[in-house]
Amino acid sequence: MRDVLIKGRDWIDARFPMTKLWNEQAGEYYAPKNFNIWYYFGSLALVVLVNQIVTGIWLTMNYKPSAAEAFASVEYIMRDVEWGWLIRYMHSTGASLFFVVVYLHMFRGLLYGSYRKPRELLWLIGMVIYLVLMGEAFMGYLLPWGQMSYWGAQVIISLFGAIPVVGEQLAQFIRGDYVVSDATLNRFFALHVIALPLVLAGLVVAHLIALHEVGSNNPDGIEIKAHKDAAGKPVDGIRFHPYYTVKDLYGLAVFLGLAAIIIFFTPEMGGYFLEHANFQPADPLQTPEHIAPVWYFTPFYAILRAVPDKLGGVIAMGGAVMILMLLPWLDRSPVRSVRYKGPIFKAALALFVVSFLGLGYLGLQPPTPTYTLLARIFSVIYFGFFLLMPIYSRLDPVKPVPDRLT
Ligand code: HEM
Repeated sequence: MRDVLIKGRDWIDARFPMTKLWNEQAGEYYAPKNFNIWYYFGSLALVVLVNQIVTGIWLTMNYKPSAAEAFASVEYIMRDVEWGWLIRYMHSTGASLFFVVVYLHMFRGLLYGSYRKPRELLWLIGMVIYLVLMGEAFMGYLLPWGQMSYWGAQVIISLFGAIPVVGEQLAQFIRGDYVVSDATLNRFFALHVIALPLVLAGLVVAHLIALHEVGSNNPDGIEIKAHKDAAGKPVDGIRFHPYYTVKDLYGLAVFLGLAAIIIFFTPEMGGYFLEHANFQPADPLQTPEHIAPVWYFTPFYAILRAVPDKLGGVIAMGGAVMILMLLPWLDRSPVRSVRYKGPIFKAALALFVVSFLGLGYLGLQPPTPTYTLLARIFSVIYFGFFLLMPIYSRLDPVKPVPDRLT
């Protein structure tokens, strides 16, 4: 049997670089030996992506992308399709879990300076993934054609109308109509089920190729390639397979356990993962009392509302996302990892986290004068963290970085 398998492998290897690819990407890929819990989220993001694609394919088998039938077809999936409720909840809860995992994955980059040279492009590809993911989630949310699907899309698409000269035409181009309608639902369906997933999958491949070209960073922010043994292998590195494949499986088991608890016991997460208003069919003649996007968009939505001018708000909201792309060039600290950064950077990072979470909370609430004031303060801190970084990261008294991993 073993001989047959080896022969089969050699037959493929003579025609396709299977073993070579495996060795380059896993078997002979040396990763730093000090990965901690923060390094689980990349592989978990990959798993959630696969989950979204697989459950998405099965949902599409019974979903009807038309304004007349969409809402009822989702109810049909929930009540009549065998295991339909599970597939739907795995997909809708999976969307929120995707953002939980990706936000933690990005925060790890912030902690350990993973965006710094030579990983700038890896970070930028990650940021494009994040933008596409936001588009994917936004379009997916229209598909159940509930009240919040409809009015959320109405509010967000109308924001494009604030752009001078071309704005109104651009908004119509996106909707394919003067209001959100059947035409909008159809194009969002096409983009959500095929166009953006294809782009996402391609970007993830590029992300991993870029990662394996430069090698992983680590919690110490030290380049392991600086110290190699006689065979040319990094002395502070271990083979990705089997060491990290097994470690990632452990993280996966914990994650799947938590995901199962949410999916089986509280798939709507009290209205945070699936909003209550979305259990009512879309009604173009009745605006819900309070329109709020799903939690993963609310920090940016709060920034939008914090600015009194509509165009100014749109620019601030877009800027809040795009500014993350500049991180590799804003951080001027001589060290990468937060472990060796000084009190100024740590305080700035803590303030940033508080403002991001605060904005996320405020974006979920109906605006009041106090909340608006708070949102303005948090927005200033949010932008201050990035815009002042070239200054405070240089002034920050850093600790000496060891030569080898600790
Ligand atoms: C579908 C979404 C994504 C997937 C599947 C994905 C996958 C991965 C994987 C498997 C790794 C290696 C394991 C790890 O370091 O955790 C990784 C590393 C990395 N990712 Fe992502 N990623 C995604 C989104 C992002 C985003 C949105 C960003 C940032 C904007 C990002 C930035 C990075 C960086 C900087 C590293 C290297 C970290 C280090 O070595 O310290 N990724 N990614």
